[in-house]
Amino acid sequence: MVRIASTLVAGLVGLASVVSAHPGHDIRAEAEERAAFIKRTPLSSRSLAHCAPQMKARGLERANMARRRHAANSLRRKRDLAHLTNFQKRDHSPHHSDLDVDQTADPSELFESGGTCILGPDVTEGPYYVSGELIRTDVSEEQAGVPLFLDIQLVDTKTCEPVPEAYIEIWHCNATGVYSGVVARGNGDPDNESNLDATFLRGIQQTSAEGVVQFETIFPGHYIGRTTHVHVLSHPGGTKANENDTLSDIYTTTASYVGQIFFDQELINAVEKTETYAANTQPLTTNDEDGILAEEAAEIDPFAQYVTLGEGDDVSAGLFGWISLGIDPTQSNDVKAAVFYTEDGGVENPDAGGPPGPPPPL
Ligand SMILES: *[C@@H]1O[C@H](CO)[C@@H](O)[C@H](O)[C@H]1NC(C)=O
Ligand SMILES: *[C@@H]1O[C@H](CO)[C@@H](O)[C@H](O)[C@H]1NC(C)=O
Ligand SMILES: *[C@@H]1O[C@H](CO)[C@@H](O)[C@H](O)[C@H]1NC(C)=O
Repeated sequence: MVRIASTLVAGLVGLASVVSAHPGHDIRAEAEERAAFIKRTPLSSRSLAHCAPQMKARGLERANMARRRHAANSLRRKRDLAHLTNFQKRDHSPHHSDLDVDQTADPSELFESGGTCILGPDVTEGPYYVSGELIRTDVSEEQAGVPLFLDIQLVDTKTCEPVPEAYIEIWHCNATGVYSGVVARGNGDPDNESNLDATFLRGIQQTSAEGVVQFETIFPGHYIGRTTHVHVLSHPGGTKANENDTLSDIYTTTASYVGQIFFDQELINAVEKTETYAANTQPLTTNDEDGILAEEAAEIDPFAQYVTLGEGDDVSAGLFGWISLGIDPTQSNDVKAAVFYTEDGGVENPDAGGPPGPPPPL
């Protein structure tokens, strides 16, 4: 472990306002930034709705439904749940029309795209982005929690075509609301530096010809001031992989999309009732109370759709969730990492508080 700016994150704590989810990070400012972005972005590049007819005509939507259904069925087989023939989808996103319906009648339609989140090119990555993470499918690292399998499709909002060969990165907190890789007040034990070297619930995948990545993780927990969410970032085309399964842009990360994926409140409530999540002592912020989600959900649909793998609405056997993200792949915006994950472990970015700087001295 290399710890260069050990006092930096702690030093910012004093600036944190009550609404800060992370020390030194003002949620209100982030929400305002996102609102401004949504306002100045034309609807055609904010929503994938205009792409739906084209995707249907090209057979892309049929392929999507088949792929998701196949993935959910094979997850059931792995868990000895193949005897369950129906999937239950309970969907409380304000944007999805099929509210609270047990859609067992037409199983293919169950897996249709509904969530079409539009990715803002200049939305903040938040204060807990760690660059240099590993390219891998399974990011769970034996973290306890409800298994979550995520199928994410990248679609170009201009052409309505899937975006192949793009690297998509996700990161989120664990069942008790702690992010790996960052040592800071408000994120687990600030006196325990071992977390700087941890990589759980972070990882990168390259999209297939259909623009799709699938991740194995756990359902995120929550932390003070924010509703449950998964961060997602799309590295621009041309980003290369290193031999050690990391990306070549550790110190120069840019993104053609940075955003967050949300979940309906009923699902969050069900997961939070399970033992592992119930141990979290941080107050729960609901979707309704979340400033960043409010800006986002006013016009676009950032909610993942999902089915339970177990029987009915039992979440304990895990969840299969999916979402399509609309991006402009020609965009690239600078991203500021809090920490670089390197061969020597986690190294705090001395410039995390300012503009992205050169690599730290090793
Ligand atoms: C979340 O991560 C922190 C830091 O590693 C750890 O102390 C805590 O036990 C983890 N939560 C769960 C439910 O494993
Ligand atoms: C620091 O955190 C790690 C990972 O959660 C844990 O295994 C270890 O016991 C902790 N050390 C102390 C001194 O609390
Ligand atoms: C992976 O390789 C890159 C390039 O050599 C290096 O900078 C980075 O520290 C390595 N990361 C890990 C986790 O070994």
